[in-house]
Amino acid sequence: MRPHPHSVARGLAAAAAVTLLTGAGIAVAASQASAAAGCRVTYSVNQWSTGFTGNVAVTNLGDPITGGWTLAWDFAGNQRVTQGWNGTFTQSGQRVSVASPSYANSLATNATATLGFNADYSGTNAAPASFTLNGTQCTGQVPTTPSSPSSPTPSEPTPSDPTTPGTKADNPYAGARGYVNPEWKAKADAEPGGSRVSNNPTAVWLDRIAAIEGTPDSSSNGAMGLRDHLDAALAQGAGYIQLVIYNLPGRDCSALASNGELGVNDLPKYKAQYIDPIAAIESDTKYRNLRIINIVEIDSLPNLVTNTNLATCATMKQNGGYVQGVGYALNKLGAIPNVYNYVDAAHHGWIGWDSNFGPSADIMLEAARASGNVRNVHGFITNTANYSALTEPHFTINTNVNGTSVRQSKWVDWNYYVDELTFAQAFRQKLVQVGFDSGIGMLIDTSRNGWGGTGRPAAASTSTNVDTFVNQSRIDRRAHAGNWCNQDGAGLGERPKAAPAAGIDAYVWVKPPGESDGSSTEIPNNEGKGFDRMCDPTYGGNDRNGNNPTGALSGAPISGAWFSAQFRQLMANAYPPLS
Ligand code: BGC
Repeated sequence: MRPHPHSVARGLAAAAAVTLLTGAGIAVAASQASAAAGCRVTYSVNQWSTGFTGNVAVTNLGDPITGGWTLAWDFAGNQRVTQGWNGTFTQSGQRVSVASPSYANSLATNATATLGFNADYSGTNAAPASFTLNGTQCTGQVPTTPSSPSSPTPSEPTPSDPTTPGTKADNPYAGARGYVNPEWKAKADAEPGGSRVSNNPTAVWLDRIAAIEGTPDSSSNGAMGLRDHLDAALAQGAGYIQLVIYNLPGRDCSALASNGELGVNDLPKYKAQYIDPIAAIESDTKYRNLRIINIVEIDSLPNLVTNTNLATCATMKQNGGYVQGVGYALNKLGAIPNVYNYVDAAHHGWIGWDSNFGPSADIMLEAARASGNVRNVHGFITNTANYSALTEPHFTINTNVNGTSVRQSKWVDWNYYVDELTFAQAFRQKLVQVGFDSGIGMLIDTSRNGWGGTGRPAAASTSTNVDTFVNQSRIDRRAHAGNWCNQDGAGLGERPKAAPAAGIDAYVWVKPPGESDGSSTEIPNNEGKGFDRMCDPTYGGNDRNGNNPTGALSGAPISGAWFSAQFRQLMANAYPPLS
């Protein structure tokens, strides 16, 4: 996570937004003429004021169907399908037909096909009155004799349930247990005292194409592939799993430590060899009961706002690789009913100034629109892999010191935020204001922003000098908020927690504590990782950290590799402290 330019002046209105989450279930019945044909349909929606996601399950109660099926219905109002999955959708007027996908065109007796779609509507969103499967109306039963036509017998509505498989929850973290990555857990458990924290859910980083299948070599990121993790999550009985989608062309354009395998013009490869295979696995119905949470492309879009003075960032802005890549990922992954996309939104020390706050929201909207539907974005995450304090307990942005605003201190430097919680809540409002759904939720990566231990100030300073006051009061002990690599003195932050504050879906551990941000000296590797001097403790910094010392720990391995000394310090300086 990187740096920041800055500017002045802006205000925010605080407001709470709520998603309308409606589950409506019906089972539809009508008559039919053939004993060999019969079907049952359940239909449910998750709706908001102008649109909805529909989930349809059709069970074949008659003879086995081979060679393809078509499910059809008439909408009662002006509903219009904008996107569908697990079938080919066509709509003419109110009539919708869904043809079976080529890979699943048979339906055995009592087998169920599930499909889903997004749609727009206005007014009332009434459910369709009846469905047909291959022209036969779905009555929920097979008539006993062909000659005894039955009259329509609508059955009981199925109870509405926002956690029904295939229905997106407003907050996927709520009431669900997170997947514990066994590879991270093993490394944490091997450290003295590590078992105190090793049962926390951390994210799985899909940081290269090979990570999808797994890399059973000495790779820093372990041997398990995406299916291995998803299967392990099922075996754990986990409610959700967190994955990091992190492989854009020209990745990490403003730094070197996390450069990746794809070149600046590799967008086609990103789509075909990275996103498509991930989407294929995530859409496997075997995982339908698991909430799959994707953290989408760390550090990418904000770099297009603040760092286009750097050659690779300028290229990625000009060639559209980031915006189109993120848009493609959001489209493919957002179409899957149990998948939740959270887009990376930097941190307050990067985009907390007017000059970049609004423009960052705008470019995120551009990427979401490139996906075809802003609702492919479920929310955003701040502070990923960064160290910004969740809350500064001893001062706020409104604190004055002897008549001088803390905004004028060198540390705050005219930023509008002093910590991540206030920033994340305000940025959420901004995102809704520019056009995102009012139900979006924020995540904050609290894996390494605890700032406890002996260096933590216990009270506000009594100094009347604004710089001295801020420096003595702040719990964030970095030399500059633009420092991002293996920060000396940092501690584990809040443990992962659902719905901790207004507008916040969860505190999460996306950066697995103990995994390096980058090597402190150059280390040759075959992962495309460069050596960024921001990870070198002897370096005097660059313009993005105000030419301050980097504050990085020495002895660090390449990014992603296990860094034992850092993990031990994170535990020692944990806040809340470990018992
Ligand atoms: C690295 C990834 C790694 C991730 C999590 C990133 O900085 O580039 O390779 O998986 O951190 O540790």
